Amino acid sequence: LQACKLAAGNWKMNGTRADLEQARAIAEAFPSPKCGILLCPPATLVRTMADMLAGSAVMVGGQDCHAQDAGAHTGDISAAMLADAGARQVILGHSERRADHAETSALVAAKASAAHASGLVAIICIGETEAERDSGQTLDVVLTQLKDSVPKRATSANTVIAYEPVWAIGTGRTPTLEQIAEVHDALRAALPDAGISLLYGGSVKPGNAAEIFAIANVDGALVGGASLKAADFGAIIAAL
Ligand code: G3H
Repeated sequence: LQACKLAAGNWKMNGTRADLEQARAIAEAFPSPKCGILLCPPATLVRTMADMLAGSAVMVGGQDCHAQDAGAHTGDISAAMLADAGARQVILGHSERRADHAETSALVAAKASAAHASGLVAIICIGETEAERDSGQTLDVVLTQLKDSVPKRATSANTVIAYEPVWAIGTGRTPTLEQIAEVHDALRAALPDAGISLLYGGSVKPGNAAEIFAIANVDGALVGGASLKAADFGAIIAAL
């Protein structure tokens, strides 16, 4: 269990400049938070949000990066570019990218190494599908993803793991507290550095955040939908 927990918001493909007011409201509501606060807007907003939040307690991150620093990869952005835009962290291997862009764990590990080389904290996502849980494969799946997605020399200073059951994302359904605890306990035992923070993600809301954060080995949350509105995300931050 980490002394300082992390509330990370993933805006996914949501947000234009008008929505920066939500980020400003979070920064104003938590001038000296007892936990870490991170917002990961779409790449188009990273620079503007980072400038707006400079000097506040709210960090800004990206949602993906390429494994290479530069080159002929139309539409992609590199970890170095994110760092240059003011990002300090980057989400990698989200299940939506694994599904939409056929990202493998090996690619995620390469992206994480690129993030580390650019001084970014890699937030590496893993999680089972509903079919995998129903067939009793949850621990096998997440431990294999952990082993294959996390660079061998990852440390607590440069890496965070987010456990996100695919079936819990955006559905309003969550595992039981016991199921979350079982996975987080298994992940903790398998981490290359036992101090690496473990976030839970998947339908975290103001109403369930406190009970999820009370679970041993849950060091915070990766929040999707509920991070888009300052009132909801603020209530989750306050529960940490
Ligand atoms: O990255 C965030 C997760 O995919 C969770 O999304 O909170 O909308 O379920 P959600």
